[in-house]
Amino acid sequence: MFTSVIIPAAGFGERMGATIGKQFLLLQDKPILVHTLERFQQSGDIDEIIVATQASSFGIIDGFREQYGLTKLRPPVEGGARRQDSIARALEHLHADAEIVLVHDAVRPFVHLREISQSIDTARHFGASIVAVRAKDTMKLASTDGRVERTLNRSSLWSVQTPQTFRRRIIMDAYAHAATHDIAATDDSFLAEQIGILPIIVEGSYENIKITTPDDLLLAELLSKRFIP
Ligand code: C5P
Repeated sequence: MFTSVIIPAAGFGERMGATIGKQFLLLQDKPILVHTLERFQQSGDIDEIIVATQASSFGIIDGFREQYGLTKLRPPVEGGARRQDSIARALEHLHADAEIVLVHDAVRPFVHLREISQSIDTARHFGASIVAVRAKDTMKLASTDGRVERTLNRSSLWSVQTPQTFRRRIIMDAYAHAATHDIAATDDSFLAEQIGILPIIVEGSYENIKITTPDDLLLAELLSKRFIP
């Protein structure tokens, strides 16, 4: 089955406090985004990679294709104001044969090949899958003024990561429904849930961090020294 991965990489990295998008910061002398792209280039399950980014970064992305031998990388697509808008635009550029679509954050370079392949297998069988890890901390539900309302049952709580993977028809319908009903989400599977699709969890690893703040960058430096895809 032709399989595409969309990499939203149009964020500005405000929480990182950097002047360039955090996906372009260097990790072991290579942009974080390149580490992420290399995972999908290496995966035998992926046929094309579509990056959504700012138009001003198109030249950089095209340069990565040559410099790092990223043969699966398609021409970049212009991202939108929100992550969700960036993905919606990339969906318009899927290969005509694409049947399975993954979405993976540009700033999660420590995804394992096993997570990619299991998420694809699971989405093929069940329609949608998400990579997630068991919650480590006890979780409380609180009111907006910080008053604890109750303690949640940790054994049924998961921290959700990416990739999130869908049969093409499901992600197209989920995004179309979100557009017509004005639904906003930072998580693609939430949009699928809104059309009645309940994704299956693929248990991932705690290494698959999203590099968001300067603390994460420190941790990423350590992880990159011992990471095996
Ligand atoms: O901001 P956040 O950490 O949730 O971003 C997750 C991913 O979404 C990042 O890879 C970022 O570049 C991307 N993004 C995007 N378009 C936006 C905002 C974020 O592609 N407008």
